[in-house]
Amino acid sequence: MISKRKEVAPSLLSADFTNLGEAVRMVAEGGAGIVHLDVMDGHFVPNLTIGPPVIRALRQITPLLLDVHLMIENADETVHDYIDAGADMISVHVEASRHLHRTLTRIAAAGRHPGVVLNPATPISIIDEALDLVDFVLLMSVNPGFGGQTFIPTAFRKVEQLAREIHRRRLDVAIQLDGGVDLDNIAALSQAGVDIAVAGSAVFNSDDPVKTIQQMLKRML
Ligand code: DX5
Ligand code: ZN
Repeated sequence: MISKRKEVAPSLLSADFTNLGEAVRMVAEGGAGIVHLDVMDGHFVPNLTIGPPVIRALRQITPLLLDVHLMIENADETVHDYIDAGADMISVHVEASRHLHRTLTRIAAAGRHPGVVLNPATPISIIDEALDLVDFVLLMSVNPGFGGQTFIPTAFRKVEQLAREIHRRRLDVAIQLDGGVDLDNIAALSQAGVDIAVAGSAVFNSDDPVKTIQQMLKRML
C-alpha cells in the first residue's frame, strides 16, 4: 500500500526550476505526502526535463515520497538509474515498454512501488496481465509532455472502469490521475475513484501553493 489516505501529488514541472528546494518545502507544508517528478526524454514526448541527478539531489532534502513518472523510450534499460537515485514510486508508460513485466518486476525487487501509465487513448484492457504486478496505475487525463493542458473528461469513465476491475480482483492497487487536475474537478475525481491526484499548474501557478494543496487534500475526502 502506498498510502492509507487520499493523496495530492504536486508536480514540480510547473514549479520554479531555479528553486526546486523551496517547491518541495511548500509541498510538505501543504500536507502532501508525495512529490511528482516528470522525466521526459524528447523522444517519447516532445519535451525534455529532469533525470537521475536532480532526483538524487531532491532525495537529500526530503523524506516525502518521490514519485517518478517516466516519459521515456528506454525505461527497460535505465530504470535502475532512477532506483539508485532514490525514487520511491516509479511509473512507466505501457506505450513505451517492450518488456513491461521485467521493468515492473525490477522496480518491485528493489523495494520501490511499481506503477504503469496509460495515455488517454490507451484502453484499460491492455494492462490486464500487469495489474497484479503494480502498486499503482497512472491514468493520463492529458497527452503527456507539458503542464497546463486541458483535462480530457473521458478520464472519468476510465477511472470508474479501473476502480471496478481492481475491486473485482481484490487488488491493493492505487489509482493515480495526472493532467488538468484543479480545485474544481478534484472532488469529483476522488469520488470516481482517484486515490492520488497529480496537480502541477493548479498548484504552482496559484497565488498560494501551500493553501491550494491544503484545499485540494480537503476536497478529496
Ligand atoms: C504532463 C505531466 C504532468 C504535468 C501535469 O506530461 O505528466 O505531471 O505536470 O500538469 P498539470 O497539472 O498542469 O496538467
Ligand atoms: Zn506526470
